[in-house]
Amino acid sequence: MEITKSTHLSGDITVPGDKSISHRGVMFGAIADGITELSGFLDGADCRSTISCFRNLGISIQQDSNQVRIYGKGLHGLSAPVDTLDVGNSGTTMRLISGILSGCSFSSTLNGDTSIQQRPMNRIITPLTMMGADITSLKDNGCAPLRIQGGHLHSISYDSPVASAQVKSAILLAGLYCDGITSVTEPVLSRNHTELMLRGFGAKVTSEGCTASIVGHPTLHGQQITIPGDISSAAYFIAAALIVPHASLMIRNVNCNPTRDGIIKVARQMGGKIIFENQRVVSGEEVCDLVVTSSSLHGVTIGGDIIPTLIDEIPMIAVMAAYASGDTIIRDAAELKVKESNRIDSVVQNLQAMGVDATATSDGMIIHGGRPLHGAHIITHSDHRIAMSFSIAAIAADGTTTLDDADCIEISYPQFFDTLHRICS
Ligand code: S3P
Repeated sequence: MEITKSTHLSGDITVPGDKSISHRGVMFGAIADGITELSGFLDGADCRSTISCFRNLGISIQQDSNQVRIYGKGLHGLSAPVDTLDVGNSGTTMRLISGILSGCSFSSTLNGDTSIQQRPMNRIITPLTMMGADITSLKDNGCAPLRIQGGHLHSISYDSPVASAQVKSAILLAGLYCDGITSVTEPVLSRNHTELMLRGFGAKVTSEGCTASIVGHPTLHGQQITIPGDISSAAYFIAAALIVPHASLMIRNVNCNPTRDGIIKVARQMGGKIIFENQRVVSGEEVCDLVVTSSSLHGVTIGGDIIPTLIDEIPMIAVMAAYASGDTIIRDAAELKVKESNRIDSVVQNLQAMGVDATATSDGMIIHGGRPLHGAHIITHSDHRIAMSFSIAAIAADGTTTLDDADCIEISYPQFFDTLHRICS
């Protein structure tokens, strides 16, 4: 894959369905009574892993690209899997499904690719064990493969040490199988798609500040859900339109849930011109169209409560910072080290390869922006967000950029290069 400088960028695009919402639609549909229909489903490798796991748990699921129909069997309708449940590269699949399997009275084994086998699972093993599940890390290293023996659970009030929607969701899903109320308090509010969608399915979920609570043993009812475009995928094209001179881009149907919109806030703080149009609510989620135009960007300091709202966009923000004048400091983002790759190291390594003065810190990075970037060979570490962020870096850099692995983009955005080619020349 070779990418060169683009002198023109314009168009009117949509981005694929939100990944977090797509996973949840399949999972909650599977444990609801009756049929759930999803439109706008993200047909990427991660969400296909979720479908395959639930088929393996006895749920009939029909998929026709972005349309998915799930024949739910209710909270206690899953059956023991015949094979190991393969989550592929998907942390969301592994951590959320663990919450559900903790409440099911059979044993299952979960595994995934080499990246997932290095990601920390004690963050869910600890609270789910407190609730009564029996979970073993089979290599005894706190990572997958995991064996889960579910059973009778009891509710807890858990103070989570990390702001993680995956941890929060695993506990709330296990809370469906408990008597009484299960609560999770996070240090900073993470994305709230689980709370919004479970409410839509009929569960009693309340949110107050950084605490989410759920009442056990609800009856969930199948839903018709329209999934909006993923702001994490829109982020690549927001950045592209901001950094390519004289660009103008309309991005339609983007989820702008306030627990996910940190990229917009930071891009505007950097001087980025982004206008929201046609704001509306679809299937309980805020949605809008974005108009983005070329802007002269300057550096910013990012840290604290905004971090969970833009955690997956930090690689793209770091590239924008390289094209901005002045310094950008990113703090409080140590979670980046345990994503699909160590994203502090993989971002800094690739920025440096393109000629940027960037330094890794213990919880983020410092980028001295404003110097011209040149093409380089990008080491993606098979991380989809690194591959896409540096493809965007390449369209404003001098010379040619190559990626060591473009296939990883299939995880979340199979049509990424089609869209990029369509708007660039
Ligand atoms: C996700 C939550 C985030 C995010 C991931 C998707 C989710 O992870 O990075 O891409 O769908 O709940 P953490 O909860 O581990 O921060």
